[in-house]
Amino acid sequence: MMAALFKQAQLAKQSAYAPYSNFKVGAAVQTTSGKIYTGCNIENASYSLTCCAERIAIFKAISEGDRTFDAIAITANTDTPVSPCGACRQVMAEFFSERTAIYLLNNKGEHQKTNVSSILPLHFKL
Ligand code: THU
Repeated sequence: MMAALFKQAQLAKQSAYAPYSNFKVGAAVQTTSGKIYTGCNIENASYSLTCCAERIAIFKAISEGDRTFDAIAITANTDTPVSPCGACRQVMAEFFSERTAIYLLNNKGEHQKTNVSSILPLHFKL
């Protein structure tokens, strides 16, 4: 299951639109329904309109009515495991539980496993 998720994240990275940073990211989420949704980063000439791979993948699932997540895998061409930005962590906090596995991958496919309370303690809630 993890291997399939990692593979999907790596495939999604190939679709990254990152002409400004040249930093390509792929993400794949697995929902409790068993489906995998993927995302890549999509940049813009107006830089702040860029959207990260993680949010694309999560929002694709949410917009298909899939709201409960078993896992996310995130990958980039980095030696160390890629670490999500603050905005994506807040989005993860909205939808992920403590049991949702967050796998941060490096360019060799090695991973570090974490969860949302570890990467965003005391997150903002309403
Ligand atoms: N980026 C992601 O897609 N996910 C991350 O976890 C880190 C950053 C993207 C945003 C931008 O297109 C590029 O990587 C450089 O910041």
